[in-house]
Amino acid sequence: MAGTRIATLAEAHLRGPRFVFIAALFAALGGLLFGYDTGVISGALIFIKREFGLTTAAEEIVVSGVLLGATIGAIIGGKAADFFGRRRVLLVTAAIFGIGALTSAIAPSPAILIVSRVVLGLAIGLASTNVPVYLSEVAPARARGWVVSLFQLAVTIGIVIAYLTDYAFAGMEGWRWMLGLAVVPALVFGAGMFFLPETPRWLIRGGQHEVAHRVLIRIRELADVDVEIEEIKASLAQQTESGRWVDLLSQQVRPALIVGLGLAIFQQITGINTVIYYAPKILQAAGFNSASGAILATAGVGVVNVSMTIIAMFLVDRAGRRPLLLVGIAGMIVTLGMLGLSFRISNQSVQLAWIAVICLMGYVASFAISLGPIFWLMIAEIYPLKIRGLAEGMAATFNWGSNLLVSLTFLTLVEKLGASSTFLLYAFASVASWLFAYYLAPETKGRTLEEIEAFWRTDRRHRQMPN
Ligand code: BGC
Repeated sequence: MAGTRIATLAEAHLRGPRFVFIAALFAALGGLLFGYDTGVISGALIFIKREFGLTTAAEEIVVSGVLLGATIGAIIGGKAADFFGRRRVLLVTAAIFGIGALTSAIAPSPAILIVSRVVLGLAIGLASTNVPVYLSEVAPARARGWVVSLFQLAVTIGIVIAYLTDYAFAGMEGWRWMLGLAVVPALVFGAGMFFLPETPRWLIRGGQHEVAHRVLIRIRELADVDVEIEEIKASLAQQTESGRWVDLLSQQVRPALIVGLGLAIFQQITGINTVIYYAPKILQAAGFNSASGAILATAGVGVVNVSMTIIAMFLVDRAGRRPLLLVGIAGMIVTLGMLGLSFRISNQSVQLAWIAVICLMGYVASFAISLGPIFWLMIAEIYPLKIRGLAEGMAATFNWGSNLLVSLTFLTLVEKLGASSTFLLYAFASVASWLFAYYLAPETKGRTLEEIEAFWRTDRRHRQMPN
């Protein structure tokens, strides 16, 4: 309650769009930590390996510990958000981010480092289930696309900051600094969440109508608050019991569940993190001789990722979700296909190295306008309110599980099948993902969350929501 009072004071001067913007910026810091903590390990690993004398297997565990933790965090995150509220869970998440960063920075042994990375992963999983839902529930319908996509933008910025931090501390072999510095955004994130309010939708769901009313007035500037409250109440009234696991399979939720889980899996099995986690290795395999050249090109890939995410944010509420998904995934198919073929027709050469760079950048750009932001956006907006946290958590869990699978198998696949076939495999997965998006992904642009909910109850076969 004290938190709510302070929040009320702090927001007295912040209303309307400005409030939503500030709220979104703070909440999105959860995304920045997600990007930083997953990206930072690529540069830190060499020094960790040297200091602790890690075997390859131990190295893989250090890298994938975070993904394992994130899978667990996503499993509990959704249910926790429905039960305790989005804001409270995000506050705890910030604390875990901070603790994980500190303990991994001072870890005296590989075992403690691995445990700390799993703990950090837990926070990442919690953030990935809760930040998008928080953002989608405070944003007005017309701007929801870009507000929620701030999360993905923050993830990509976090990745670039991690690459740059790695680069800055590489000279002094400062892996402890690389891992430990994440405590700074964790503190800012925690402080921000302390002052931000709970989402009106979660409050109404819990019967706290007056508080919800106050929060909505602040974030919408009076005008249509009553309409929105009535809509939220009406959508709650349509549903019977509140979110239980079995409800995920109910007739009303199942189609949305399939869309969310499908996008979760396709976002990962089309190979994005082979590039994000292993770009320097891929570039070296393609013929970049110097490690620093490969690292610089990797930073370039990171910058393309951020820039294209900004373009996607601009387009997502104008062009809509489906055009971006379909154009972007088509781009992924072409660039992955070219990458696969170029590894086949020539051996390591300067030309191949450059073709590889261009393909990788084109591929990341295509991902950044489609599956990158739109997966996180859709899973925050397509589910009915009563089951939103749970269903979103399930999609995030599948996403992290698939990420773990791809990250653990990539190097082995390259070893056994060769780089060419491996990338062609991801190109093939992209074709399947295009078909999936074409036939099943709905257009949610400009719809209120309540309209989207009503859509699943009516004619689910329309990909285009009726006016
Ligand atoms: C994905 C991450 C990926 C990142 C790259 C996110 O949407 O979920 O796995 O590392 O995009 O920008």
